Formats: sequence, structure tokens, C-alpha cells
Amino acid sequence: MEILQATMEDFDGIVKLLKTYHVDYISAEDKKDGFVTTNLTDDQLRRLIEEENGVTIAKENGRVYAFALAASWDYWKEWPLFEYMIERLEDYQLDGVTITKENSYQYGPICIDKSVRGTGLFEKVFFASLASMKDRFPIMATFINKINPRSYAAHTRKVHTTEAGTFQFNNNNYFLMSCSTSMQPE
Ligand SMILES: CC(C)(COP(=O)(O)OP(=O)(O)OC[C@H]1O[C@@H](n2cnc3c(N)ncnc32)[C@H](O)[C@@H]1OP(=O)(O)O)[C@@H](O)C(=O)NCCC(=O)NCCS
Repeated sequence: MEILQATMEDFDGIVKLLKTYHVDYISAEDKKDGFVTTNLTDDQLRRLIEEENGVTIAKENGRVYAFALAASWDYWKEWPLFEYMIERLEDYQLDGVTITKENSYQYGPICIDKSVRGTGLFEKVFFASLASMKDRFPIMATFINKINPRSYAAHTRKVHTTEAGTFQFNNNNYFLMSCSTSMQPE
């Protein structure tokens, strides 16, 4: 399995994976193992790949098995949830440092095809995504829906992101998770 930053060649594979595990399309059976909620138009995904270099993927024989999205808050600000997070970012800290729009970026969603979950691929894609942003930002910030315990378990036990706090948006309850972009695999 190769882990790399996506190019437009990977566009269709990323969309396929996103649609399979997006809350709007996911099967009831798969939902208990996590789901993604961020919707991207084709143009938003193209800009994320081409202008932000913000999609880390795992692929084999041309098939995309995993992706992690990451970009500056300036990119994400057009989504209402991210606009809300940006307004409140400075209420949260990582290791005593206030999280700001300038010193952090938003990672997520991450999505792993169910055929390769629990194999260590999650950690590899997570750290590759982190490394891709390290030169631009010292802090990673993300959100996890409280009704996604698998994602919370992965982000606290498989990689050690820190719960900086919680927030509510649109009748959903979220954890705000954070870590240093210098964090290393154990
Ligand atoms: C969330 C996701 C990225 C994690 O990757 P993964 O390969 O499944 O992660 P792992 O299996 O290595 O680790 C998950 C851990 O959670 C545990 N787990 C599974 N279901 C769980 C549940 N309902 N509650 C608590 N823990 C759970 C697993 O047992 C595992 O821990 P273990 O290896 O100690 O047993 C992946 O499941 C996924 O893509 N899900 C669909 C999309 C999604 O939810 N993305 C995250 C959005 S924030």
C-alpha cells in the first residue's frame, strides 16, 4: 500500500470512498463503525487537491483505500460548521498554547475502507497527513462527533490526540481534538 499526497488522478477514488461512508449514504450496518459528515463539491475537492495539497491517500493498484483531508481554516471557512469552530477556536488550548486560526489547521475527515481497518493503516495515513502540514502549522485541530466512538477510540488510543474540549453545533455534540504537528508515532 502506497501512502502519498493525492493528485487529480485520484479524484474519482476519493469521491467513491467519501460517498460510501458519508452519513447521507452509509448503510445502517456500516454506520456503527463510523461515518463522515463533511460534504465537498467537486470544485471544493479539486481545490483541496490542487491548491492546498491537502489530501493524503493510501492506494494500491490504482484503488484508493483511505484518505485524510487537511487544510488551512481559510480554505474551510465556507462550511458553516468550520465558520462556527473558527469563531470559538481561541477558547481551546493545547499544552497551554491558545489554538488560533493562524497557528492551527483543520484535519479531517479521515476515512479507511472497511477491508483495511484495524491494520495500522489509520496510523500511517494520520501521521502522513500530519507531516504534510508540519512546515505550515504547529497545531492540528479537528472535531469528532460524540456518536462516532470508533473514531474517538482511534484518535485517542491508536494516535494520541488530546481532547481540548467539547462543543455543540446543529444539535450535534462534538469533541474538539488537537495535537502538535511534531507528534511522532510510538
Ligand atoms: C474511524 C476510522 C478512521 C478508524 O480507523 P480504523 O482502522 O477503523 O481504526 P482501528 O481499528 O485501528 O482502531 C479503532 C479502535 O476502536 C475500537 N472500536 C471499534 N468500534 C468501537 C466502538 N463502537 N466504540 C469504541 N471503540 C470501538 C476498535 O476495536 C479499535 O481498537 P482496538 O484495535 O484496540 O480493538 C475508520 O474506522 C473509518 O474510516 N470509519 C468510517 C469513517 C469515520 O468514522 N471517519 C472518522 C470521522 S471523524
